[in-house]
Amino acid sequence: MADCPLIASRKGFYHELKAGRRYAWCSCGRSKRQPFCDGAHQGTGFEPVIFTAERDEEVIFCGCKHSGTAPFCDGAHNNLPGGYAEDDPDSAANQAIAAVTADPGGRAMLDGGLCVVAPGGVAPRAAGSLTWRALVTPAHGARFQSCFHLTCAPGTSPVVAAGGRHSVLYCLDGEGSVTISGRPFAARAQTGLYVMPDEAFAIAADRPMTFYLWQGPGGEALDLLDAMPGNFDASHPDRAEEIAPDQRQAMAARYFQLLVDARHGSTVMTQFQGNIPLSKAEPHRHLYEEILVVLDGQGMVWGEALKTPIGPGDVLFLPAKAVHSLQCLSPEGLNLVGVIYPGNNPAINY
Ligand code: FES
Repeated sequence: MADCPLIASRKGFYHELKAGRRYAWCSCGRSKRQPFCDGAHQGTGFEPVIFTAERDEEVIFCGCKHSGTAPFCDGAHNNLPGGYAEDDPDSAANQAIAAVTADPGGRAMLDGGLCVVAPGGVAPRAAGSLTWRALVTPAHGARFQSCFHLTCAPGTSPVVAAGGRHSVLYCLDGEGSVTISGRPFAARAQTGLYVMPDEAFAIAADRPMTFYLWQGPGGEALDLLDAMPGNFDASHPDRAEEIAPDQRQAMAARYFQLLVDARHGSTVMTQFQGNIPLSKAEPHRHLYEEILVVLDGQGMVWGEALKTPIGPGDVLFLPAKAVHSLQCLSPEGLNLVGVIYPGNNPAINY
């Protein structure tokens, strides 16, 4: 009779699958050859999960054996008894990590390609009522997505094309509407919106509004059109998602809420808003590229060899597979909004 599996690891296992190769993932947690079966499940009631890889693919195998998407990680390890894996910021190893500050352009560069950008240090560009800053682009090492800061004066903005890219918006402040290829959506602080690759959008408001815009795959600049196209894709009519406390997903004492995701037609970019309590996460990696914006609170972003302080408005670029951890230094917590690409679950790490 199967009992609870043993926790082989509180982290997932990175692996490169080979097309056509057969794998047997250990579900019992007793194997000495993790994450794969070595036969130690005999008599436990557990059986390995056996499958043949359809393609070459990087994956994160579940190490805690509690994933709901076994054999792959779904972030269940973050909610195991004992809480989210944390790190001591005052350990001898961490005290040896040097702090860096931003350059005159508002950019602090860490090891591993990590960087933190303060929008105020980036030169603005303007078109009509729209002022925008390119914060993270391929020029800064981003492979999958770019991030822009937008401010809109009262009126209607120029039409911004996705240029064949997925676009994800987050309204930081103000209240107005975002028209997506002819279809208007109400937007106010903490609203996420999704624009499909061939669509375009414009922002209209009576008072100034501020947005962050993620576009993927990334570009260096915004594409502006002379007129709004009428090609709204009605197969996904719901494009806006507001923050709602009852939609939070817990990760021990942390939580996040998904905003833009597959419900809105976004299959590769996922947006979330999250809260980190007073703590430092254990260093970890993701297979996805992540760009985060600090909404409020003070903290520190750590690479393997360098760290830098973060505060409201700062934008964090975390490349895929780069070792990092975030530390919250505010008793009231650190609130962030972010987008991962490619990915649908910001809880998966290794
Ligand atoms: S050793 Fe764990 S499933 Fe076989």
